[in-house]
Amino acid sequence: TEYETILVDRKGRVGIITLNRPEALNALNTRLMTEVVAAAKEFDRDPGIGALVVTGSAKAFAAGADIKEMQDNRFPAVYLDDWLGPWDELGRLRKPVVAAVAGYALGGGCELAMLCDVLIAADTAKFGQPEIKLGVIPGIGGSQRLTRAIGKAKAMDLCLTGRMMGAEEAERSGLVSRVVPAEQLLPEALAVAEAVAAMSLPAAVMMKESVNRAFETTLAEGVRFERRLFHAAFATADQKEGMAAFAEKRPAAFTNG
Ligand code: HXC
Repeated sequence: TEYETILVDRKGRVGIITLNRPEALNALNTRLMTEVVAAAKEFDRDPGIGALVVTGSAKAFAAGADIKEMQDNRFPAVYLDDWLGPWDELGRLRKPVVAAVAGYALGGGCELAMLCDVLIAADTAKFGQPEIKLGVIPGIGGSQRLTRAIGKAKAMDLCLTGRMMGAEEAERSGLVSRVVPAEQLLPEALAVAEAVAAMSLPAAVMMKESVNRAFETTLAEGVRFERRLFHAAFATADQKEGMAAFAEKRPAAFTNG
């Protein structure tokens, strides 16, 4: 497929999507949204892929929705078009997605990172929801996912002031799981994605689904959901292999069946 705003690559069982609009700090225009979603869904369907990495440039993961593209939007058109709806599909991918964030992750850029499952930041990363400065609010889940990730106090502070938060504060707040020196960002993200992709794919997909369920339901329902999937895992060949490999003191060779 021909893409204009992203680069698509694969390394072993990892699919890599690199946002590539350097002239606009990877601002998320409609074309980029369409391309990221299409590429991600293709990797998600590809049996040769076990995990994805989404990344940007050293200067910017993404500086938000494309302000120049959206400034003349009007309510009826964006409402009838379900403008930005396609981004939701990213949150519905089955396979684990690692976001490797360097530089600006602002507005939609921060939201895009939060649509991913594992967030790894370079020490240069700067997160924020500056929409308020433009007279709007986040539109692809920022006010919801940021609040769930870092709590009301920090989320209100960031969203209402529009200030940026550095990598150290982002890790301390629970938005990102690791901070690494900038030059280590991609190797680290790839290592995480490769490690996940080497696991049993059904187990990894069950794991992602189960963790995500924690954000959508009560504790009792979430535990019931987990228990059903846990029992279901015993229907896989990978469970037999994983446990046999442990007993035989050898590495497991999963077949994703
Ligand atoms: C369109 C953008 C852009 C954006 C940067 N550019 N961000 N274009 N939309 N969000 C363009 C600039 O216009 C400029 O183009 C070029 O990228 C380089 O940006 P500079 O501003 O010159 O860089 P710098 O001075 O280093 O400042 C970096 C920055 C600043 C602090 C990140 O660019 C900035 O504040 N950007 C906007 C951030 C923002 O408000 N994001 C939230 C958007 S609202 P030219 O042609 O002049 O060289 C949003 C809603 C979410 O995301 C909806 C869900 C998707």
